[in-house]
Amino acid sequence: MSEPKVGASPLSLELEEIASKVRVCTLCPLSKSRTVAVPGEGPVDAKLMFVGEAPGAEEDKQGRPFVGAAGKNLNSLLNLIGLNREDIFITNIVKCRPPENRVPTWDERNACSPYLKGQIRIIKPALICTLGNTALETLTGATSISRVHGQTMKKEDMLIFPLYHPAAALHNPKLKSVLESDMQKLNEALKQLQLPSSTPKRSGSPKLDDFMP
Ligand code: URA
Ligand code: SF4
Repeated sequence: MSEPKVGASPLSLELEEIASKVRVCTLCPLSKSRTVAVPGEGPVDAKLMFVGEAPGAEEDKQGRPFVGAAGKNLNSLLNLIGLNREDIFITNIVKCRPPENRVPTWDERNACSPYLKGQIRIIKPALICTLGNTALETLTGATSISRVHGQTMKKEDMLIFPLYHPAAALHNPKLKSVLESDMQKLNEALKQLQLPSSTPKRSGSPKLDDFMP
């Protein structure tokens, strides 16, 4: 028998409200080609957020982020430093799959950005890991991942840690080892922020005032 959902915090309700809007969104043309939208998932009190580019074929079927081949790679990378998917919030710059996995246009990224901004405002992650060039460029304006990967950068009030995209490492052993060593650097950055990778949770409960403008 399923239990009624009790004690959902105002913050998790706000997060669910964003997800509900995403699922019926028609703000950009990607709404026409998607199967289902992929809002993102993870705990509302996650200290770490991972942001990819856009859902791929498998994500478009299941409505969940990073569940295909790139997702398997991402899971192994997280496990390298004692993290699990359940510890982090995972989402994408655009929430609907572009046809043939093309890079989302700026119009599509801009149309979709209020959802990601809302997720960031509610979750208030201590650190945001961008996965690949599109997420890096969209969130920071930086265009050269090869120059900035594996180190923390500040953008407005966000701390960003750029990583290569786990899909890029699928067929490129060199990139795979760069990603693996960047994960160790991420682990160091988490320690410096006093966020042990195995317990990336807030101790107190978040309050509504924490995110109200
Ligand atoms: N690649 C992405 O950027 N995001 C996903 O969710 C899956 C693959
Ligand atoms: Fe809406 Fe974003 Fe999907 Fe475009 S990609 S339809 S803006 S949810």
